Amino acid sequence: MSSIHEKSTPKSDLKICLGIETSCDETAVAVVRSDGAILSHLVLSQLDAPQLYGGVVPELAARAHMDHLDTLLNSAACEAGIGFADLDAVAATCGPGLIGGVIVGMMAGKAIAASHDLPFIGVNHLEAHALTPRLTHELAFPYLLLLVSGGHTQIIAVEDVGVYRNYGTTLDDAMGEAFDKSAKLMGLPYPGGPEMEKLAALCRDKDSALSDFPLPRPLLGRKDCNFSFSGLKTAVRNHVEAFDNHEIPKDKAAAIACSFQEAVADIAIDRCKRGIEQFFADYPDEATRGNLVVSGGVAANQRIRSALLDLTNSYKMDFIAPPVKLCTDNGAMIAWAGLERLNKGLTDTLDMPARPRWPLEDLTG
Ligand code: KG4
Ligand code: ZN
Repeated sequence: MSSIHEKSTPKSDLKICLGIETSCDETAVAVVRSDGAILSHLVLSQLDAPQLYGGVVPELAARAHMDHLDTLLNSAACEAGIGFADLDAVAATCGPGLIGGVIVGMMAGKAIAASHDLPFIGVNHLEAHALTPRLTHELAFPYLLLLVSGGHTQIIAVEDVGVYRNYGTTLDDAMGEAFDKSAKLMGLPYPGGPEMEKLAALCRDKDSALSDFPLPRPLLGRKDCNFSFSGLKTAVRNHVEAFDNHEIPKDKAAAIACSFQEAVADIAIDRCKRGIEQFFADYPDEATRGNLVVSGGVAANQRIRSALLDLTNSYKMDFIAPPVKLCTDNGAMIAWAGLERLNKGLTDTLDMPARPRWPLEDLTG
């Protein structure tokens, strides 16, 4: 977040990449240039179906991607002021994610690449989250990353493009999933993360919220860097069930949301402390100038961002978080990961498969 990291120097030999993201319920397309300029950035959220069904329905999501992708692709090129033939590469998410949606975006990307004779890059969605901070900030390798999304929660040392050391992961729910499931228990719409944050902001007395609605912090103080959220969710359920017909007055709901968000922030801090110790042990040079980076949808949460900023201030580290619009799923992160890979000569063939499961560590070959 400190301004010294802002990207400044335009590089010569600029390349332009199209990025396509369809691994969950956002249909997203962007055109990004290798100096970090985002020439277009379109995100279509499938708000109706998830709100009706309380979550993403894979088959409906895949159909919605099919319905909207063509229009979005044309609009993205038009807004960027280019034709597909002006691109230097095409990148599309090839996993992990909901396989129907991944296939839709991947096949569109391959078709554009094939018809314009362009390199294709099949992007790992987690790698895209991991590299996004380098799109907006001058950020050198290695850095310590807290990757927190709806499907994943990991602390990782990012050593280079394609080189990741996993320090810890969740043993059950992902951090975003904990937000979504707890929000659902409280009758809030999907996605629950932003809703919980808005509700927590209405709480006027944090101390009372913490004592009236105490919540556990699973795995706190453990020597490893793993996470667990299922006990936290169960405790939220118990608080909710204590109300008649689960009807919670607005001020009490705000207090539960605040207590929940504080618990998640405490967990993030404690687990990242372990991550920092491990990172300094593995990369001693970073102990005086290292970076802690947060990315993924939950990185949009201001309370978690400020908790992490405080943590880095207590070490000799800088804290970097992408702008909120680049934390949740988007096409720019895919285009940027494509450019990072293109720069290293890491392009893919058109028989690249779509993968529902594709751990980040599998990229480190
Ligand atoms: O990265 P992302 O857009 O999609 C996945 O790759 O999963 O992350 C979505 C997750 C959802 O669980 C959503 O509730 C959460 O990020 N999220 C938030 C906030 N905005 C999105 N969680 C907490 N606070 C937020 N402001
Ligand atoms: Zn994501």
